[in-house]
Amino acid sequence: MPWPTVELQQALQACLPGLQLQVLAQTDSTNTRLVERARTDTTPCLLVAESQTAGRGRLGRAWQAVPGASLTFSLGLPLAPPSWQGLSLAVGLALADALDPPGRRPPGVPPAIGLKWPNDLWLWDGPGQGRKLGGVLIETTGGAALRHCVVGVGLNVAAVPTPDGTATACLQEVQPGATPEGALAAVAVPLLRALLRFQQEGFAPLAPAYAHRDLLRGQAVQVNGNPPLAGLADGVDAEGALRLRAAALHRIVSGEVSVRFARDPMPAGPSC
Ligand code: BTN
Repeated sequence: MPWPTVELQQALQACLPGLQLQVLAQTDSTNTRLVERARTDTTPCLLVAESQTAGRGRLGRAWQAVPGASLTFSLGLPLAPPSWQGLSLAVGLALADALDPPGRRPPGVPPAIGLKWPNDLWLWDGPGQGRKLGGVLIETTGGAALRHCVVGVGLNVAAVPTPDGTATACLQEVQPGATPEGALAAVAVPLLRALLRFQQEGFAPLAPAYAHRDLLRGQAVQVNGNPPLAGLADGVDAEGALRLRAAALHRIVSGEVSVRFARDPMPAGPSC
């Protein structure tokens, strides 16, 4: 299937004039490319790579993706929101809503795609249960007022075997026949709209929709921060902070922490 470059660039430019769309067969990391590009060129750009040789995840981890079975892209643009808090949640929600539209579910039926604070998309297997489907890596550069924001998205589209003999969770479990090209066509404009809306309104108006996809809510979790904390996840607040009930109520704001279900073993190796 060809990448929908012409139609997609037109649709993106209708939201943000001047935005460029580029598809590369291979690069080191689409985030690295757009962060470096922003030193000399801050025009908005959506960069897709069929293959990354040095894909990066959060917390310094590597991001492994298989060409043809994954969607890897970054969207870079100047952004000036009043507060950056909750941006990764707004991005995750836009992606999940585009891939698993909320209006198509009968009332009371849980979503197929859940969100694990702060930046993961998971397949929703049951209350507090799921498997990682994708992740978001946000990097910003530049001055205090108007920063250049690079939003990197990695999504498993088709199943690939993992070293332990299982298969990755993938979009095809929700949408049989899904392709990286089709997934890009589905998420690109909603993601751009969500970023422009976030710039105006922040996270607060999205909190109720986030709550519907919040995979951690009501679950026993461990927060690997400084200090480490364990408690019950109690949703997110209007700024996108994770509310954690332990001996006291904590607000976890830092994106530099990882959260895991209390029953989960420590993850080994790459995060996808
Ligand atoms: C995570 O879950 O840790 C975030 C993963 C983000 C991966 C994407 S793939 C496209 C973009 N380029 C990168 O090097 N990383 C992001």
